[in-house]
Amino acid sequence: MSVEPTAAPLRLGLAGLGTVGIGVVRILQREAALLSARAGRPVAITAVSARDPLKNRDADLSGYAWETDPVALARREDVDVFVEVMGGHEGPARDATEAALRAGKHVVTANKALLAHHGQALAEAAEAAGVALRFEAAVAGGIPVIKTLTEGLAGNRIKRVMGVMNGTCNYILTRMEETGQGYNVLFDECARLGYLEADPNLDVGGIDAGHKLALLAAIAFGTRVSFDAVELEGIGAISLDDIRHAAEMGYRIKLLGVAQMSGRGLEQRMTPCLVPARSPLGQLQGGTNMVVLEGDSVGQIVMRGAGAGEGPTASAVMADVIDIARGFRLPVFGIPARDLAEPVAARAATPAPYYLRMRLLDKPGALAKIATCLGEAGISIDQMRQINQEEAEDDDAIVLFVTHKASPADIEHALGEFERTGVLVEAPVAIRIEQV
Ligand code: NAP
Ligand code: HSE
Repeated sequence: MSVEPTAAPLRLGLAGLGTVGIGVVRILQREAALLSARAGRPVAITAVSARDPLKNRDADLSGYAWETDPVALARREDVDVFVEVMGGHEGPARDATEAALRAGKHVVTANKALLAHHGQALAEAAEAAGVALRFEAAVAGGIPVIKTLTEGLAGNRIKRVMGVMNGTCNYILTRMEETGQGYNVLFDECARLGYLEADPNLDVGGIDAGHKLALLAAIAFGTRVSFDAVELEGIGAISLDDIRHAAEMGYRIKLLGVAQMSGRGLEQRMTPCLVPARSPLGQLQGGTNMVVLEGDSVGQIVMRGAGAGEGPTASAVMADVIDIARGFRLPVFGIPARDLAEPVAARAATPAPYYLRMRLLDKPGALAKIATCLGEAGISIDQMRQINQEEAEDDDAIVLFVTHKASPADIEHALGEFERTGVLVEAPVAIRIEQV
């Protein structure tokens, strides 16, 4: 492989030397010749930035200039592409990205929070400056889902986007089932694997996955990024008991995102769901992500791969860098930012069966009161079980229901009515069952 020796190198300024940043350094150092051949020109880091210049990063950074201030890095004369892998939707990540675009630099970022909050303004700034703003690494780690949606499926009207897009949550949920270990032990394992966000509540609260869903929805439906309208629920309320009961009924619990455009508007939700254990989504293990794309002409596409970690995320960053080196230019969200429509947010309304778990006072008539609430809300019961006593406190009863299809609004109404019966010992858990 050889590259025209006179070809001008593409010079990167790398802001962030953590899991992703060091992954980018390692790929570039290991595969310089291959990457240059694919890019048609040498690709090289010229300068880097992070908080602590003295930290041992287990990588040779001696050939790169050090900038204390990421904004200064973004403006450097010898930087063509600003690679932002620091994180955070305000502060240095936002300031430096805006500075880079103002200075006419291309930007590659892995930062879904930044784009979920400021994607429209940043896309408009990039397009006005005639530079690229790329974010393959921001959604589903190593899976090339942004490229698939913007390029591979450009000929389709997208009907639905679905997926498991947070490696931390999937790791915790699957390992809870496999090992019977508690949440805290598994959370620590995720930290060791480099899956966690700097603020891990973004992961377990469903927010990080919601950011990713909002970015995919913008591309899929030609709308402005609308993260605030995503219905969000994390995995904090899911217990080992729920995981075991779901397994006994042939299901697994996943933090599942669904976005679709209905006649009422754009539905976006990221919530725990039961999915059939034998389905592709049910089979998804550990930090793996899966994205399902449905187009009118292509039908269904399923993409599966590592959603987090050093190698997969750096792989996606490098794909964007090489596209820039090759001279590919696309609107940030597939169509020009000024033409993206303002979406009308719609609450998800498609009926589905639900799993309900509740702890009741173990006294005559308690169960009848709950069944009456369901009946009065128009919800039909498919299965009902009372769990044997050793799982419950002395005078409590744990009861599980699987309903026939019910609308989210009817379930919400029934949950409110349960509270009024006076027989609940703690808040009930309601999880939608998706037949995916
Ligand atoms: P990380 O390991 O915490 O690394 C963050 C890096 O940014 C560190 O080197 C840190 O410097 C630097 N940094 C933070 N604040 C800074 C500031 N104010 N000024 C200069 N440097 C600063 O994070 P990461 O996991 O690599 O994630 C980086 C980005 O990629 C985030 O947006 C994240 O959401 C996204 N992402 C991560 C993954 C993943 O698997 N980890 C996957 C996809 C996307 P010090 O090292 O000196 O502290
Ligand atoms: N914290 C994220 C996850 C990293 O666990 O999926 C990848 O975006």
